[in-house]
Amino acid sequence: MKILRTSAAARRAVRAWRAAGGTVALVPTMGNLHAGHASLVDIARRHADRVVASIFVNPTQFGPGEDYARYPRTLRADTARLRAAGADAVFVPTVAVMYPGGGGPSTTVSVPGLSTDLCGAHRPGHFDGVASVVLRLFNILTPEVAVFGEKDYQQLVLLRRMARDLHLETRIIGGPTVREADGLAMSSRNQYLDAAGRRLAPALHAALRECRLQLLAGKRDWAALERRACRRIEAAGLHPEYVAIREARDLAPPGAGCTSLRVLAAARLGGTRLIDNLAVRLR
Ligand code: PAF
Repeated sequence: MKILRTSAAARRAVRAWRAAGGTVALVPTMGNLHAGHASLVDIARRHADRVVASIFVNPTQFGPGEDYARYPRTLRADTARLRAAGADAVFVPTVAVMYPGGGGPSTTVSVPGLSTDLCGAHRPGHFDGVASVVLRLFNILTPEVAVFGEKDYQQLVLLRRMARDLHLETRIIGGPTVREADGLAMSSRNQYLDAAGRRLAPALHAALRECRLQLLAGKRDWAALERRACRRIEAAGLHPEYVAIREARDLAPPGAGCTSLRVLAAARLGGTRLIDNLAVRLR
């Protein structure tokens, strides 16, 4: 597996693959990889001849007071995991490589509406940072396909919107959330939880499952269902930021006759922010 450190090296590798007739899939990550990331590499392999993962803890998507400095950086274990998952290369740029302007303000991509809703309302600027770094990755690596986890469902919808709005050729694919045995969605941030927090954390998923059951049983008072799920999360000892029932396609509030929903939630547990979501198909 190649380790690519500069955009020139990354471009050369991609050019060589293309010259040999290969297509390229990208799996963007911030490292500290777990089974969820490995599943994204598996999906990528099914959609292209070559798979490149990127590992970059992107400073522009962390707000002041968030966990940028302590975000786990585990490059050696990550490269071993990517090699085992069958990635062809990993792109590991520094901040100076990704943001060549030398730390000053640089060009930002903002997806109106979606970037300030739900998680965006609680993390101002976060999604501008995500869109801006993903567009840079797409421009350097020019993948035919990019794979993102559905655990960050709002991110996935927002990046699809960016790709549509900016006429990007990269096709964006979502990979199903991988869960621990007790339902907790796998996330690099789960390791911030102490033993007591880890026991409480699956309550977020449990509340979403209960909400889905209510929807499948025919309940349609979205606001009441959201409040009930928030209460359940709170009763379990977490601090809910939001629970929202939205249209799966664009995260708009559900219209009449909508059949494809997503229930999304975020909650705090000690200093850790957890997010999760579930698909709900109504008949
Ligand atoms: O989902 C993530 O890990 C990040 O938001 C991403 C897409 C790699 C951009 O930094």
